This record gives sequence, structure tokens and C-alpha cells, in this order.
Amino acid sequence: MTITVETSAHAETVRLGRLLAGVLRPGMIIALQGDLGAGKTTLVKGIAAGLLGIDEREVTSPTFTIMQEYSGPVRLYHVDAYRLESAEDLEAIGFDDFVDGSGVTVIEWSDRISKALPRDTLNISIELTGDQQRRFLLQAATQQQAQDLQKLAGQLEAAGACSVTHTIET
Ligand SMILES: Nc1ncnc2c1ncn2[C@@H]1O[C@H](COP(=O)(O)OP(=O)(O)O)[C@@H](O)[C@H]1O
Ligand SMILES: [Mg+2]
Repeated sequence: MTITVETSAHAETVRLGRLLAGVLRPGMIIALQGDLGAGKTTLVKGIAAGLLGIDEREVTSPTFTIMQEYSGPVRLYHVDAYRLESAEDLEAIGFDDFVDGSGVTVIEWSDRISKALPRDTLNISIELTGDQQRRFLLQAATQQQAQDLQKLAGQLEAAGACSVTHTIET
């Protein structure tokens, strides 16, 4: 099951992240794909705000440190895999230790390390469709995620801020 969401402003993507945070579950891994400037970090700003109440200005791509941890009622691990050569480099950041825990892990440039990601990873790919337009494809990997994304789609539609273009097949 895949849902497609289109946003047409930075703030709408932050809102999408906030609402997405509301359906995330402990231990979840979210893999973000998309070119530079697509809006990966912007989405994480929303997730961090929704999960932990963190100010969006405090969230930036951890390009050089590779991983940034935010703590609160839930732990959020924000990974930027851009500078990683392969999945083997993950050892250095203790990936295996936190990824199996009860926190939420969000990975920018996840295609760099796709081999290391479990099958139940929630994949989100982002396309730049205009100056301010972005298209998000959220792909459920489990039945539970499909239900959660369905709920998210309903909330987005109710909020009316960004357009949920379609909620497709199972
Ligand atoms: N609809 C939108 N969604 C997300 N970002 C947008 C949007 N419209 C414009 N932008 C801008 O595009 C840039 C996205 O950057 P960023 O989130 O850092 O991308 P990435 O992490 O994928 O490289 C930001 O400057 C943001 O303000
Ligand atoms: Mg980024």
C-alpha cells in the first residue's frame, strides 16, 4: 500500500512530518530517498516537532556527524547516510545498537545503506516537482503500517493543508 502526498510549501512538509509522527511506533525505521533539496530534512523537522516538541530550527542534516540523537519520551535517531560508502560504515555509528531499540530511526540518503535495512522499513521517496512543490510516496511494508498510513491519509485530508492525491491499492 502506497500513499502519495503533495505539499506546496516548506510548512506543509513540516506539517506532514508532525502528523506522520503521530502514527509512528516504537522501533520503527523510516528510510528517506530524494535528491538534495528534496525536503528530507524538512520532513524530519516535522517528525522531531511532533514526537518531541523540538523547534524545527534545531534540526539540521547530520552530514558530518552522520547521526544525531534527540531524546525525550521517545528517542529519535536522525541519520544522514550521504557520506557513508556502504552499509559496513554503519558500525562506526553504533547503528545496530540503536536500530533494534525502541526509538524511532529516520535515515536520509537511505539508498546508500539499503542493504542494512530490515524488510519492515517504511520507505518514503520524495520528488521535487516544482520550486515549492514536493511529492511524497509513502510505502507501507507491513499490514500495520498500511493501517497507520491510511489513518495518516485521513488526517491529512481532514487538515486540508496538503493534497493527498491518492490512496492506492493494497
Ligand atoms: N514543499 C516543500 N517541502 C519541503 N521543502 C521545501 C518545500 N518548498 C520549498 N522547500 C525548501 O526546499 C529545501 C529543502 O531542503 P531540505 O529539507 O534540507 O532537503 P534535503 O534534506 O532533502 O536535502 C528547504 O530550503 C525548504 O525550505
Ligand atoms: Mg538533508
